[in-house]
Amino acid sequence: MSGKNALVTGATHGLGMAMASALAKSGANLLFNDIDQQKIDQATKDYAANGITAHGYLFDVTDQKAVDENISAIENTFGPIHILINNAGIIMRVPALEMDPQDFRKVIDIDLVSPFIMSQRVAKTMKEIGGGKIINICSMMSELDRDSVSAYAAAKGGLKMLTRNLATEWAKYNINVNGIGPGYFATAQTAPIRIGGHPFNEFIINRTPAGRWGDPEDLQGATIFLASKASDFVNGQVIYVDGGILATIGKPSNE
Ligand SMILES: NC(=O)c1ccc[n+]([C@@H]2O[C@H](COP(=O)([O-])OP(=O)(O)OC[C@H]3O[C@@H](n4cnc5c(N)ncnc54)[C@H](O)[C@@H]3O)[C@@H](O)[C@H]2O)c1
Repeated sequence: MSGKNALVTGATHGLGMAMASALAKSGANLLFNDIDQQKIDQATKDYAANGITAHGYLFDVTDQKAVDENISAIENTFGPIHILINNAGIIMRVPALEMDPQDFRKVIDIDLVSPFIMSQRVAKTMKEIGGGKIINICSMMSELDRDSVSAYAAAKGGLKMLTRNLATEWAKYNINVNGIGPGYFATAQTAPIRIGGHPFNEFIINRTPAGRWGDPEDLQGATIFLASKASDFVNGQVIYVDGGILATIGKPSNE
């Protein structure tokens, strides 16, 4: 990754930070983004404590003007972005009958529209320089559904198809667009359904062939693969890093 500029959105902690750290440890110049300045300041310290110089940018990935201004600023300072990971995302767990359509739109905007805005802007320069790597962070909800996540499932399912579409359109420019679909990971996003004796915690451990929640570091291998030359002939795929959940219907709890 030496000589490559890598931008990871929402990479102030959790999965984004783990993937971004893998790229930086492999030699990439790390750029990251978030919508929250405090998180950026803390993350800059956390990266430094791990021996990584990371450059944080404060902007909302759904704001096309801000995206354009910040990507231009990055390009002026460091040169073109070679690797983009669209990681920033939110989830709202609300039963569909109670979901405010405005909230539904918000999830779609952040989880589906923003990867399009980011990818389109970055790909304009990738096309000029002869290629690049874009990785969209999908989910098992790109394939399976669960109660109370109508907007998230719609967004992540759409993101899988957007990944295929952009791969189809941009392969001729040597731009690889692929996805990573994390299973259930121990992060802040899953804290409400993982800790405090929540029954979902036991359900996930029993339902996952690997018998545990994912550790953010489990995503680092797929990240390096999809960001590197090793994946130059891989286009429009989603690699599910899920401890085997998608491979099985599970087993009865008394077996
Ligand atoms: N945690 C899991 O188990 C899991 C499983 C599957 C997929 N994912 C996906 O992985 C990605 C990261 O997950 P996480 O658990 O680390 O999430 P997280 O909520 O802990 O972190 C996401 C970050 O994105 C930032 N963000 C939100 N909206 C933004 C915006 N408009 N502009 C810029 N930044 C914004 C947030 O401030 C936050 O720091 C998300 O796309 C999520 O949907 C997570």
